[in-house]
Amino acid sequence: MPDHNERLMAANASAFVAGYMSGFGNEFATEAVAGALPAGCNSPQRAPHGLFAEQFSTTAFTVPRSNARRTWFYRIRPSAAQGKFERLAHSGIDAGYAPPSPNRIRWDPQPSRAGLDFIDSLLPLAATPGAPGTGVSAWRYCADRPMERTFYTADGELLFVPFEGKASIFTECGKLEIAPGEICVVPRGMKFRLTPLDGRASGYLCENHGEAFRLPDLGPIGSNCLANPRDFLTPVAAFEDVEGPHTLVAKHSGSLWQAPLGHGPLDVVAWHGNSVPYKYDLFRFNAIGTISYDHPDPSIYTVLSSPSPVPGVANMDFVIFPPRWLVAENTFRPPWYHRNLMSELMGLVVGVYDAKADGFVPGGASLHSRFSAHGPDAATTDRAENAVLAPHKLEGTMAFMFETHDVFRASVHPEVALTEQADYDSCWDGIAARFGREAGQ
Ligand SMILES: [Fe+2]
Repeated sequence: MPDHNERLMAANASAFVAGYMSGFGNEFATEAVAGALPAGCNSPQRAPHGLFAEQFSTTAFTVPRSNARRTWFYRIRPSAAQGKFERLAHSGIDAGYAPPSPNRIRWDPQPSRAGLDFIDSLLPLAATPGAPGTGVSAWRYCADRPMERTFYTADGELLFVPFEGKASIFTECGKLEIAPGEICVVPRGMKFRLTPLDGRASGYLCENHGEAFRLPDLGPIGSNCLANPRDFLTPVAAFEDVEGPHTLVAKHSGSLWQAPLGHGPLDVVAWHGNSVPYKYDLFRFNAIGTISYDHPDPSIYTVLSSPSPVPGVANMDFVIFPPRWLVAENTFRPPWYHRNLMSELMGLVVGVYDAKADGFVPGGASLHSRFSAHGPDAATTDRAENAVLAPHKLEGTMAFMFETHDVFRASVHPEVALTEQADYDSCWDGIAARFGREAGQ
C-alpha cells in the first residue's frame, strides 16, 4: 500500500489532462462528476454529493462588475480544515534586494541545481519596492522533483514563462500542461502543485502584485489581433481525494509559511466562475507591425496587462517579441536606442533576440531601469545599418519583457549575483561618433 505522499505524487505525476475550455474572462462552469454543480443556488443548504461550497474571490466583493473575479468551488472538504501556519525559511525568498540603481544589468542563465521541487528552486531576479497591492517580482525556477507539498501565494498572481521542459500544474480548478513557448497564469491565492514531465522544468516567473492581468484594449486596431481570447485555455475540473498528512505552503507578505493538513487540498470536484488559471501559446500571437516605414512602439506586442490607477500606465505589461516579418522601408529595423519612464526586465524563451548579437540567451535576463539608456549593441547596429532592406522573417525566436511603471531592485542572493555579467556595459563599446569624422563629410 503506497503511503500518502506516494499516492499524492502518483496523482500529481499523471500525464492525464481532462481537457480545456477556451476563452478569456469567461464565466466557466465545469464538473468532474455529473451533478456536482448545484443549479440555481451557489450555496445550497447541502451541496450535491455531500460537497462543500466555498467562494474564492480575487477581487473585493464591491469592485465594478466588469473587474470582478470570483469562483465557486464545490469541494470534498472546506479549505478551513487546516492547522496553524508556522514560518518556513527559504534562501531565495528571504535573500532580499539591493537598493534601486540606474545600472544596466544582464544575467547569465542560472546553473542547474538538482533535487529541488518548484518551491525550493525559486531564485529571485528582481522586484519593485512598491506599496502593497502594486508592483511585480521576477523569479527563475528550475525543478527536477514533483511537489509533494501544495503551494499558494497571497502576494500576487503567478505568470509562468517556461524555457526548458514540460510541466503539469495541478490547480484547484484542474490540470494544465505547459511547455516552452506557452505561458500559464495562476490566480493569486490559488493552490497548486507543479510536476516536471521531462526530468527538469525551468522557467521565468512573474508575481504580479497589482491588478490581475487582462487583455489590452485594441483601440484603432479593432476587435481582432494581438492575443485573441479564444486561444486562452482553462482546465476542466479534476480532483484528488486523498486522506493523510500533507503540507500546505503559503507565501504571505514576502515570507513563506507552512501548515499541516489531513488531506490533499486539490479536492474541488466542480466549479464555476471567472477567477481561473489559464494557459496561452505565445506562437498564436497575431503580431501587428508596420507595412510602410518606421516601426511602432513595443506596446504593439502586449499579451497581457495589469493596469495601474493611471489610465494607460501599466502596473505591468507582459510583452513578447515573436516571430514576424520585417518589411519596413528606409528604416533601422532593430529596436531603436531609447530611454523610458517604464522599467524593463527581459528574458528569452528560445532563439536569438534581434537587438543583441550575443550574451543574451534562453534562461538569461536583462534589466533596464527607469530612464537607463539602452538599445542594440554595437555589432547589431553595424549589421542593421548595412542590411539590404528586403522583406525578412524573424523565425525561431521568442523574447519577452516584464515592463512596469515602478523601478526594479536586483536580487542580492549570492547564486543570482554570480550570474550577473560584469562587462554588460561594454556591449555598447565601439559605437564611435561619426559626425564630421567620416570621409566625404
Ligand atoms: Fe527597451
